[in-house]
Amino acid sequence: MTVKKWHLFSLLLLMSSVVTADVEELNDAPEAKSFYSQDTEEDEVPVGTGQVFPREDVSPGDDTQKESENIHEGVDKDELPSQPSPKEEMPKEFRVVIGGSAAGERCLFPFLFLGKEYSDCTTEGRSDNMLWCATTYNYDSDKRWGFCENVEELNDAPEAKSFYSQDTEEDEVPVGTGQVFPREDVSPGDDTQKESENIHEGVDKDELPSQPSPKEEKPKEFPVVIGGSAAGERCLFPFLFLGKEYSDCTTEGRSDNMLWCATTYNYDSDKRWGFCETEEEGEQRRQAEEGEQQRRQAEEGEQRRQAEEAEEMYQKAMKIINGTSRKSQREEEYESLVKVAGTGHTKATEKVAYALLLGDGLAQNISKARDMFSKLAVEGSPKAQTALGFLYAAGLGLNSSQAKSLVYYTFGALGGNLVAHMILGYRYWGGIGVPQSCESALTHYRLVADSVANDILLTGGGVVQRVRLLDELENPGTANEILEEDLIQYYQFLAEKGDVQAQVGLGQLHLHGGRGLEQNHQRAFDYFNQAANAGNTHAMAFLGKMYSDGSEAVPQNNQSALEFFKKAAELGNPMGQSGLGMAYLHGRGVPVDYELALQYYQKAAEQGWVDGQLQLGTMYFNGIGVEQDYKQALKYFNLASQAGHILAFYNLAQMHATGTGVIRSCPTAVELFKNVCERGRWSERLMAAYESFNEGDVDSAVVQYLLLAEQGYEVAQSNVAFILDQTEVARIFSRNETYPRALLHWHRAAAQGYTVARIKLGDYHFYGYGTDVDYETAVLHYKLASEQQHNAQAMFNLAYMHEKGLGIKQDIHLAKRFYDMAAEASPDAQVPVFLALCKLDLVYRVQYLQELNLKELLSQVDLDHLLGAEWDLYLMTLIALVLGSIIAYRQRQQQVVPQPPAPQRPPAQQAEPQAGQQ
Ligand SMILES: *[C@@H]1O[C@H](CO)[C@@H](O)[C@H](O)[C@H]1NC(C)=O
Ligand SMILES: *[C@@H]1O[C@H](CO)[C@@H](O)[C@H](O)[C@H]1NC(C)=O
Ligand SMILES: *[C@@H]1O[C@H](CO)[C@@H](O)[C@H](O)[C@H]1NC(C)=O
Ligand SMILES: *[C@@H]1O[C@H](CO)[C@@H](O)[C@H](O)[C@H]1NC(C)=O
Ligand SMILES: *[C@@H]1O[C@H](CO)[C@@H](O)[C@H](O)[C@H]1NC(C)=O
Repeated sequence: MTVKKWHLFSLLLLMSSVVTADVEELNDAPEAKSFYSQDTEEDEVPVGTGQVFPREDVSPGDDTQKESENIHEGVDKDELPSQPSPKEEMPKEFRVVIGGSAAGERCLFPFLFLGKEYSDCTTEGRSDNMLWCATTYNYDSDKRWGFCENVEELNDAPEAKSFYSQDTEEDEVPVGTGQVFPREDVSPGDDTQKESENIHEGVDKDELPSQPSPKEEKPKEFPVVIGGSAAGERCLFPFLFLGKEYSDCTTEGRSDNMLWCATTYNYDSDKRWGFCETEEEGEQRRQAEEGEQQRRQAEEGEQRRQAEEAEEMYQKAMKIINGTSRKSQREEEYESLVKVAGTGHTKATEKVAYALLLGDGLAQNISKARDMFSKLAVEGSPKAQTALGFLYAAGLGLNSSQAKSLVYYTFGALGGNLVAHMILGYRYWGGIGVPQSCESALTHYRLVADSVANDILLTGGGVVQRVRLLDELENPGTANEILEEDLIQYYQFLAEKGDVQAQVGLGQLHLHGGRGLEQNHQRAFDYFNQAANAGNTHAMAFLGKMYSDGSEAVPQNNQSALEFFKKAAELGNPMGQSGLGMAYLHGRGVPVDYELALQYYQKAAEQGWVDGQLQLGTMYFNGIGVEQDYKQALKYFNLASQAGHILAFYNLAQMHATGTGVIRSCPTAVELFKNVCERGRWSERLMAAYESFNEGDVDSAVVQYLLLAEQGYEVAQSNVAFILDQTEVARIFSRNETYPRALLHWHRAAAQGYTVARIKLGDYHFYGYGTDVDYETAVLHYKLASEQQHNAQAMFNLAYMHEKGLGIKQDIHLAKRFYDMAAEASPDAQVPVFLALCKLDLVYRVQYLQELNLKELLSQVDLDHLLGAEWDLYLMTLIALVLGSIIAYRQRQQQVVPQPPAPQRPPAQQAEPQAGQQ
């Protein structure tokens, strides 16, 4: 333990360790450094105020708006027909025209149109009787024209709105349809492109005059039109133009003698038209279309082949990655995934991006991961959206923004990403970045829990250790559940020698995989066989289970399973009884018999077999083989849940969520569902993060723990805070950031009931690490820890603050009481308490003397002045040194080295119990 800062707690700690050679719970204090959070505030402030959200939000909304404005401009300019008409004729000279091809220019009179001169605005050539003019003399060649403007209109000209509604609507559809937005597409880039395409189309469509002309008339076989407002559509014959029907292309109404037709019946109202194509053009078009089609088919074929190849490579790599824990092999496969990702394979790209982000399988490169996720998110990958949400939430590679992170998480969740659901569940539960809402949390958690429970039903779930780094530091080795290589070899040696316990143990490890051993059914089967032959009932039951489940090594066989279960059950093995119960319940190898099933499960449950309890609960819940009884169901689920059975948690959660057999309780249901969710397969990340930490890759460990902390894992929150609080090795964060971040995560861990985190919060406020020194808040946290968790250190700290009157009224008697309580609460606290009490006693006596009117005498002997401000510390040090040397002397005499007692803490890790295993 390094003491970086001399202060009372650390000093006391040091003294107590001198005296007892004990690892003391005060250890937190010395390492705690630095300050509180600008960052925390930053993190949390914007979150609550929804107002930040729209402001800095870059989501498509904004751009869409701009785009649509552009479109309107385009429309206004380019719409040829049907303006609201000027009511009054203008004097002929120089009217400014509206719309048309020469908007804003002035009419030129006279002008030539179809060979005739006009010296005023005219409706000639238009079906809608609107006045127009040309702005150059020869309209026929120049085609510059516009609608004549009314004098009254001059003022409100800008407001003049075209209402060529059909087209406008068309233009707006892509803009307005949020369909892109809610679905996945969050990037403005995309929209912009689409929009601008639309604009171009609009322009093309709306140029009325002067296309390169078709030369020849075409008979009525419905030619495709070129240009005009309906380019690419087919003519419709007959069509109506100026009240007359045409059943062929016509030059009517045009000055250039070009053939045109309408593509809807009523040109006058619909204005959909184009130039008729010639036969030659038609032929060319058909050839081009065919060529295009062939080319596209060939291209698609090639793409499909490549995609299949990529998929194959992806599956191969994933299979190896799933099945191995060897680092070198994983890295190799990730390299090949990088290649697959290069072909645009979405899943491979997701995998690679996550590997880059977490530094798991590939070298960590957060900015690269961020870029990949941004691209994937635009393409609509819920996984990538969730990852972006995480990056925004944690401020990794991006400026932190809780609002944006919430948006991305929501997209991810809408896309069905379970991690996103879990994160949202935790946020609603804790009110982080969103208003607290138990019901919303329940919705999200329940959805995830359904999937996790389903997985566990199918696969039995894996075993995951949750290593608390803080405990690891204090008791090295105990938290590490991974067996050492030579220990495994030792067990293997024992098993070979015929040690039945070793055989069963190794069999189980190989059956499920874990603690450093790989899953290997054949080996498990061999070990169980050896032990069963030696008469071990557990091994028999396991053999039954292996036959019942079936695997590559051991084919499913109901009869063999039944035999082994029977053998074990007859010898009183609860697992065998439970297996028989299952055989009768589902009719595996025997006829279905609910009564017998119930009996066997009852026998197993009586012996405390968790699976039996769970099954009994289910039978009572559903009324199978017994009358439906929610109270009994609740009882058995509760029993099974005490052993940590996930499905029991799940069933209990459902009962509490729906109020079945109990009073409905949303908070209880959420806590239970949360527990279930935290056993999901993502919990394997806890082990990966721990491994990274042990290998010295702290950055990778921090990011992995951060992701899990987002998902609501308290262990991960504590570990993030611990790493940041402890070390300067996390390079991804600048020195400024680490303590505010640590504080934030201590906060979240404390809110989930972790005492050490609560005390850390007190310490941070006491010392002013990451915040202003705030004794009141420190007292608040210490009080919570002492009242709710009877934590000795919290009591001790409270006592000290009472003694000094820090953030609390000075009260020597209360201080003494708290010191005594601390000593009672933990034997480890007795030495520091003794020292503190000695000092307190002395001070108290001095005060007493002072009160005895000896003030005058003593005022000349000001202790503070005489011995320095921290004289009490020196005094205590002195006492401690004296005591320490006495004890050390005694110990040397007795040649006894006492083992430090394990400090009381929550268990270092919880190996996940799982179905059918005890
Ligand atoms: C690998 O494991 C994941 C879950 O851990 C699973 O979804 C995926 O299908 C597995 N892939 C292969 C190829 O086995
Ligand atoms: C991360 O990747 C980018 C390319 O995307 C590269 O420029 C950068 O150097 C990489 N950073 C590290 C630390 O490797
Ligand atoms: C983060 O914010 C700073 C200043 O607020 C700005 O200069 C920087 O460009 C931002 N970075 C990103 C990635 O947006
Ligand atoms: C075992 O029994 C189950 C349930 O009746 C049945 O679905 C399965 O096919 C049986 N297995 C074999 C190998 O007969
Ligand atoms: C870190 O602290 C230094 C000095 O106080 C300051 O100049 C710098 O802007 C801070 N950096 C961040 C990211 O807050």
